[in-house]
Amino acid sequence: MGQVVADMSAGMSGVMANLGHKLGLYRAMAGAGPMTPAELARKTNTHERYVLEWLNNQAAGGYVEYDPKARTYRLPEEHAMVLANAGSPVFMAPGFDTVSSLWLDEDKVADALRTGKGIGWHEHHHRLFCGTEAFFRPGYRANLVDSWIPALDGIEAKLKVGGKVADVGCGHGASTIVMAQAYPNTTFVASDYHGESIETARQRAEEAGVADRIRFEVASAKDFSGTGYDLVCFMDCFHDLGDPLGAAKHARQALAADGAVMMVEPFAGDAVEDNLNVVGRMFYAASTAVCTPNSLSQEVGLGLGAQAGEARLREIIEEAGFTRCRRATETPFNLVLEARP
Ligand SMILES: C[S@@+](CC[C@H](N)C(=O)[O-])C[C@H]1O[C@@H](n2cnc3c(N)ncnc32)[C@H](O)[C@@H]1O
Repeated sequence: MGQVVADMSAGMSGVMANLGHKLGLYRAMAGAGPMTPAELARKTNTHERYVLEWLNNQAAGGYVEYDPKARTYRLPEEHAMVLANAGSPVFMAPGFDTVSSLWLDEDKVADALRTGKGIGWHEHHHRLFCGTEAFFRPGYRANLVDSWIPALDGIEAKLKVGGKVADVGCGHGASTIVMAQAYPNTTFVASDYHGESIETARQRAEEAGVADRIRFEVASAKDFSGTGYDLVCFMDCFHDLGDPLGAAKHARQALAADGAVMMVEPFAGDAVEDNLNVVGRMFYAASTAVCTPNSLSQEVGLGLGAQAGEARLREIIEEAGFTRCRRATETPFNLVLEARP
């Protein structure tokens, strides 16, 4: 009962967090010190009576601090980094759109469970696309250049001097842009089968000033163009693919002789019982509603699932003809595998 009530509270409060982000309530509180509901309402062009209720929800969840004597509310600086500051490496607020997309697509998922048919990424509510970008970007900003690429054998040096990278299933291009900013001498091919995502990725790259070094293409993971890549990245998309083996084989032939595949996958142990925790719970939900249906909607329809685990991923990598595969590094959310031809 306690768990269910906590989950219902979290579910409803997710909507409140999304409102806080979209109405600019968190941004207005960031760095502003203690505020009354009237001050916050004035600053955000919202109505005080509603803002009071919203603030009390936020205080009950620990997102803001309440001073009962002064009846003021404060967004602590470290909370503002997560909820208000879009430039911060831990900015998560727009990620709640991913959660809302699961509710909005609930009927489609129910049909999929009954019929066994797939749901393509492109068939989901558009909130999924921006929500996913927002959910993954902080991890890419925090880890990709500082930790994941340096963990690959000899790849960072090549990218610094001037290399060639393919970012497969790039979505809105969050990872491509982080890499393009860090390695100005390197060129990138960013591909995804979803045309709408590629359009957004192109815009994002233009805004970030790196579009001149990224070629965007609408292509499946089995037929993105180019060869001689120093690095082929699968950023949180390998398990989504209908035919991951076909994609791994295609990546292998696209690599330079001493190139590497970097596969960033949701963190998972090999056995179900290893994943029965809060992170695994979230990933199994996304896997049921998004990742597995996408895979089942495509050719082969392997349906790896978001918690496939390293051993299963390695089987596919080895079957594709890679001779070396290792866990290069990890975070609480990600496994980072390196495969070499
Ligand atoms: C979870 S999202 C990750 C997006 C992006 N890599 C990121 O980290 O933000 C999975 C992506 O895989 C793409 N995708 C799914 N099936 C694909 C396929 N067969 N070929 C290429 N991309 C595919 C989807 O369109 C989606 O953008």
